[in-house]
Amino acid sequence: MSENVVTPHMTLTEYRPDPEFAREMDACDPLASYRGRFHVPKKADGSEVLYFTGNSLGLMPKTAREYVDQELEDWRSLAVEGHMNARNPWLPYHEFLTEPMAKIIGAKPIETVVMNSLTVNLHLLLVSFFRPVGERSRIVIEKGAFPSDQYAVVSQLKCHGLDPSKNLIELKPRDGESTLRTEDIVETIESNGDSITLVLLGGVNYYTGQAFDMKTIAEAGHHIGAKVGFDLAHAAGNLELKMHDWDVDFAVWCSYKYLNGGPGAVAGAFVHERFARDFDLCRLAGWWGHDKESRFMMGPEFRPIPGAEGWQISNPPILQMAALRASLEIFDEVGMSALREKSEKLTGYLEFLIESIGDNRISIVTPRDIVQRGCQLSIRVKGGDRSLHERIVSHGVAADWREPDVIRVAPAPLYNSFTEVFRFIEILRECLK
Ligand SMILES: Cc1ncc(COP(=O)(O)O)c(C=O)c1O
Repeated sequence: MSENVVTPHMTLTEYRPDPEFAREMDACDPLASYRGRFHVPKKADGSEVLYFTGNSLGLMPKTAREYVDQELEDWRSLAVEGHMNARNPWLPYHEFLTEPMAKIIGAKPIETVVMNSLTVNLHLLLVSFFRPVGERSRIVIEKGAFPSDQYAVVSQLKCHGLDPSKNLIELKPRDGESTLRTEDIVETIESNGDSITLVLLGGVNYYTGQAFDMKTIAEAGHHIGAKVGFDLAHAAGNLELKMHDWDVDFAVWCSYKYLNGGPGAVAGAFVHERFARDFDLCRLAGWWGHDKESRFMMGPEFRPIPGAEGWQISNPPILQMAALRASLEIFDEVGMSALREKSEKLTGYLEFLIESIGDNRISIVTPRDIVQRGCQLSIRVKGGDRSLHERIVSHGVAADWREPDVIRVAPAPLYNSFTEVFRFIEILRECLK
């Protein structure tokens, strides 16, 4: 392995625009073999699609079928006995996912649970952490937050009898800018300090690809006495996260994007350890969150499990969890720091090649600063419309289009290569002609 090709933080000047460079980078990529652990969709001619939509739906791990099949087999042969006697008993099945998931988001196992889907988890945790009292009733979110988050907070405000037009503070980029500045986020929190009860942001904005400084935002929120939560849909499996150390109160994320858990995969929830035994917190209860020892005594009184598991409601979908388990095993093997190391280089290379096209119709919306982004780059096409995206797709590229003028491209370090990024740029250049 030639170590000098791959340095921890490559700068734009270290990349080269020739195809040999991509091949050299792939040849010394320590994660290159992981691509072989995934099914890559094929074009009609049998060649592989250039798949850059892991930010939407991650690829299927080859072991997923085997893991799901095992549960189907055990269901077939054991039926109800599978709860106790399946090779991986179903009763504690979600626990098999806790540790690998906790590592991915930088949390302790007691702070992590895999359950439900993202927006459902968001609602469950808003019930606990959005507790407006008198004048302290406002929520800070990003303007242009993912619509589901917007709908969730607006509906929660209404459930508390509050007017969203007065109680929602939306963070906007400065005029002429596309992304938010941390100092502006902090300033908004500080200047509205007495009225804010919750700050809820994405870890990475789905549209711009901007990664937020979650530690600083959590500090600013706590400084004024608010709770701070993050939607990690675009951050989990993408960035190195430290939910516990950054002192975040709660977080939620899905598993079908970078975590490759499959369509509609079971989501995650994080609740900081300091709330693990706060049984007075308002919460929606269900039997799966009840103390494990006495759950099947079927008593009338709810006694929550300490920690994030106490927010569970229903018994979980084993087949979905089996598929997710296949992927989390791969994450556990690789580790987020090795993934992130490759990701910075791969996305930096994409950025370098986009610039090398030298077409002033295209610009990168995502921050240039690598700490402010994950693997996704959002490319704005001045005067562009869907037809450009359609041309790119017709060349066998999976990338997505977001109205009015943005193509999102997310090279996932687990399975994308430098050569694929190079080929994508050749196609983009061709389609821009
Ligand atoms: C940032 C973000 N939040 C929320 C959601 C909604 O997720 P779900 O349908 O799993 O609730 C998505 C889905 O893509 C998302 O990207």
